[in-house]
Amino acid sequence: MITMALSKGRQLKDFIAFLKSKELTHLSDALESVSRELVVETGSIRFLLVKGEDVPVYVEEGVADLGITGSDVLYEQKRHINNLMDLPFGYCHFALAAKEPKDAYPVVATKYVQFTQDYFDSIRQPVKIIYLKGSVELAATIDMADAIMDIVQTGTTLRENGLEEQVQLDEINARLISNKHAFFSKNDEIQTIINQFKRQVQ
Ligand code: PRP
Repeated sequence: MITMALSKGRQLKDFIAFLKSKELTHLSDALESVSRELVVETGSIRFLLVKGEDVPVYVEEGVADLGITGSDVLYEQKRHINNLMDLPFGYCHFALAAKEPKDAYPVVATKYVQFTQDYFDSIRQPVKIIYLKGSVELAATIDMADAIMDIVQTGTTLRENGLEEQVQLDEINARLISNKHAFFSKNDEIQTIINQFKRQVQ
């Protein structure tokens, strides 16, 4: 039995569509029927439904053998895990956004402190980073910050809050990760899952 930690929310819908595209309907059916459950048992995989930021924690601790989360989350956490495979969903990108273009953005609000610091270091500009856990757009809307660093998928959240992308940065997608020990001790089962995910379906 393999245990896999998954992000709840938008990425779960994409993962269910991906499972269907690979004809893994016994798994997609089990996940589609979920309402508030946190553990979903199927014949071969037990899914843990957690916050995206917590997926690498469950995997590093070894309570999950595998996990699926965004490359944005992995960038921030630098966990002791194996990054096994790019998955073809969860596409979005990092962006610096503000009400209007400016020469410099000395105060930036974000959930992504490491990425933001690395970006401002790379352009050799000082920055004060205000760490927020969500609704980051508000910080720029009410002028607590000059800009925000966030992930953008459709652009709707920025538009609806009167913000515009000023700098488009790194692409993001979903990744399959594993616990370091489980990668060896459960290698056959993990390889089977990787092969199912890679399989070309006519
Ligand atoms: C992310 C991000 C933006 C939004 C962008 O939040 O922080 O708020 O998605 O998506 P869009 O470009 O399609 O509008 P998410 O929905 O992951 O929730 P969170 O605020 O809980 O992080």
